[in-house]
Amino acid sequence: MSEQWTVVALLRWIEGHFREQGLDAPRLDAECLLAHALGLERLELYLQHDKPVMEAERARLRELVRRRARERVPVAQLTGRKEFWSLPLSVDGSVLVPRPETETLVEVALCFLPDREGEYRILDVGTGSGAVALALAHERKKAQVLATDVSEAALAVASGNAERLQLADRVRFAAGSLLEPAAGERFDLVVSNPPYLAEGEAAQLAPELAHEPGAALFAGPLGTELLERLVAGVVDVLATSAGFAVELAPDQAERVAGWCELAGLGEVRIVPDLAGRPRVVAAKSRGQGAD
Ligand SMILES: C[S@@+](CC[C@H](N)C(=O)[O-])C[C@H]1O[C@@H](n2cnc3c(N)ncnc32)[C@H](O)[C@@H]1O
Repeated sequence: MSEQWTVVALLRWIEGHFREQGLDAPRLDAECLLAHALGLERLELYLQHDKPVMEAERARLRELVRRRARERVPVAQLTGRKEFWSLPLSVDGSVLVPRPETETLVEVALCFLPDREGEYRILDVGTGSGAVALALAHERKKAQVLATDVSEAALAVASGNAERLQLADRVRFAAGSLLEPAAGERFDLVVSNPPYLAEGEAAQLAPELAHEPGAALFAGPLGTELLERLVAGVVDVLATSAGFAVELAPDQAERVAGWCELAGLGEVRIVPDLAGRPRVVAAKSRGQGAD
């Protein structure tokens, strides 16, 4: 990078470099990293397009560009930020970067909570950055949420996000596996985006995923191990006529829907994501819950 770089020239150069390196979204990644290095919002890049960029800023940027292109570190981990459900979340290497398809899970979950003022009890299993728990708490201002994870490091990120979003008074965090931290409680909604990849899939995945925690991605040799255990146990924590919604891989949807029926859940349905792929299985408890 020479001495005369402006914002727009740098943007073009980085985009071209990312394109040559085969990144999926070269323009967007370039905008995010340039804005981050300059301490600007993305839109401000265009308002300041002819501003010269100083050597100190370019040095910071070079390192970000190198880590994105060569090491395939996800942009969100480089910037420490990811927007989910229009909420700004902090992320780091201890959590899954929230994915756009998980917004389908939030949409399905909200259908189980029709009263915006309802004092719902919500459980989010495997909360990661807190994305789902915080989106639901944001949408249902009187809901109480329990958000769990096996990873203490993830819970620290999630609770920081809850504080920043001023939702900490209604979202509790607890460490433990699957439904353990919720034992003895009943919920109007249980929601989860658990790890659902098979361990054998690791070699075929995008290199970016190597930077995310394995415990957030892989469930075991089959991929469905945690989904199966979650479905088998969920009736013990659901209130009467409560909702249950889980995210999964498209080829797992029929099997998980079958397990929901076996577990005694009703109104089982498979919901596609925006790309039309089966992404969420939703169901309702019948009379077996105890409020
Ligand atoms: C796919 S990530 C989802 C994170 C977040 N809910 C989201 O949608 O962005 C799965 C999360 O489940 C956690 N996890 C893995 N095994 C678990 C278990 N047995 N019980 C509870 N959480 C678990 C991981 O640490 C990770 O944070």
